[in-house]
Amino acid sequence: MKLMLGLLLLPLTLVHASPATPEPCELDQDEESVRCYCNFSDPQPNWSSAFLCAGAEDVEFYGGGRSLEYLLKRVDTEANLGQYTDIIRSLPLKRLTVRSARVPTQILFGTLRVLGYSGLRELTLENLEVTGTALSPLLDATGPDLNTLSLRNVSWATTDTWLAELQQWLKPGLKVLSIAQAHSLNFSCKQVGVFPALATLDLSDNPELGEKGLISALCPHKFPTLQVLALRNAGMETTSGVCSALAAARVPLQALDLSHNSLRDTAGTPSCDWPSQLNSLNLSFTGLEHVPKGLPAKLSVLDLSYNRLDRKPRPEELPEVGSLSLTGNPFLHSESQSEAYNSGVVIATALSPGSAGLSGTLALLLGHRLFV
Ligand SMILES: *[C@@H]1O[C@H](CO)[C@@H](O)[C@H](O)[C@H]1NC(C)=O
Ligand SMILES: *[C@@H]1O[C@H](CO)[C@@H](O)[C@H](O)[C@H]1NC(C)=O
Ligand SMILES: *[C@@H]1O[C@H](CO)[C@@H](O)[C@H](O)[C@H]1NC(C)=O
Ligand SMILES: *[C@@H]1O[C@H](CO)[C@@H](O)[C@H](O)[C@H]1NC(C)=O
Ligand SMILES: *[C@@H]1O[C@H](CO)[C@@H](O)[C@H](O)[C@H]1NC(C)=O
Repeated sequence: MKLMLGLLLLPLTLVHASPATPEPCELDQDEESVRCYCNFSDPQPNWSSAFLCAGAEDVEFYGGGRSLEYLLKRVDTEANLGQYTDIIRSLPLKRLTVRSARVPTQILFGTLRVLGYSGLRELTLENLEVTGTALSPLLDATGPDLNTLSLRNVSWATTDTWLAELQQWLKPGLKVLSIAQAHSLNFSCKQVGVFPALATLDLSDNPELGEKGLISALCPHKFPTLQVLALRNAGMETTSGVCSALAAARVPLQALDLSHNSLRDTAGTPSCDWPSQLNSLNLSFTGLEHVPKGLPAKLSVLDLSYNRLDRKPRPEELPEVGSLSLTGNPFLHSESQSEAYNSGVVIATALSPGSAGLSGTLALLLGHRLFV
């Protein structure tokens, strides 16, 4: 029994909650669910306190940078779970966050295997160093049926195969994958399997990625249902370069977020076919002085806000667009008021009180439609 609970909580359980520590769990009043935060930065493990902590829908474990390697000798990560699967099934756990620890791959994957019997839907791993090499999953081994997996600053000893290996421990229904501050996104694509349900991929906050890196990260044909790609602050330089990477990856994208990159113009680069479903493009906070050439011919939403456009774009420079945001560009300061083009293009200006609300609502609508 102890061994099994230990297995479940392993990477997490390093615990000794001193009597002075505040209650780890509280009732979340809005959602009527229980949230537990367990700080395991103290040296002595306390299994029972860890188990208490896992008895909630929302659980966060903080490892204080500890190494879990010593646990390898104590635990059989391939043990038959037998009757304990029922205990795991009865856990209310829905969302789990694990922060700040050094975790052997075997323990991470052993935990995913155990969580395969739980109802876990969202897993966040942050500031983890994953050490050692991986085992192949046992035949019966499928991990949790996640909706959302978020990784931030997770390093892997298996530099270019980590995604392929991690993927083998997840059931195939994953819809949202975020990987920020990645140490390697240069995947060996042969090994990566198809993500059959993935709708949103967020590779924001990878300033070293660049367009070359994007090509190796977006393994061709592995994301057949991808609708939303976020690349905020991801070292992108030109819209045409991003377009080529998307063309190579063959993703049926609907929304692309390139905000917070330093984009430059690419006059004279060969034209490129954008994904035919693409209807929303975010180019805000990209330092653009002109509307880049070679944008999709038609878009529902184009966000060009907070750039350096010093004159109003001419209609022929713009795609045919349902909602255009130009808020926060210098040319607006020299103009008295916003105007609507007779083509029906709406110009939102910093001066118009409705504009922020309008684009916010659009973002919400779009998000709602695309993320569900
Ligand atoms: C975790 O607990 C330690 C003391 O045991 C404390 O110093 C630290 O600030 C706590 N960390 C977090 C993130 O709460
Ligand atoms: C471990 O945690 C449990 C539950 O919080 C507590 O009752 C017990 O006293 C702790 N054990 C030790 C050795 O501190
Ligand atoms: C990233 O995680 C490592 C631990 O794996 C930590 O030492 C480092 O401070 C983290 N970096 C940032 C920027 O949080
Ligand atoms: C990515 O990996 C390939 C081999 O798999 C290698 O040739 C290439 O240099 C790597 N690129 C980067 C940026 O590390
Ligand atoms: C575009 O990106 C910016 C910054 O990331 C964000 O504030 C804005 O809401 C986005 N626009 C749309 C239409 O989603």
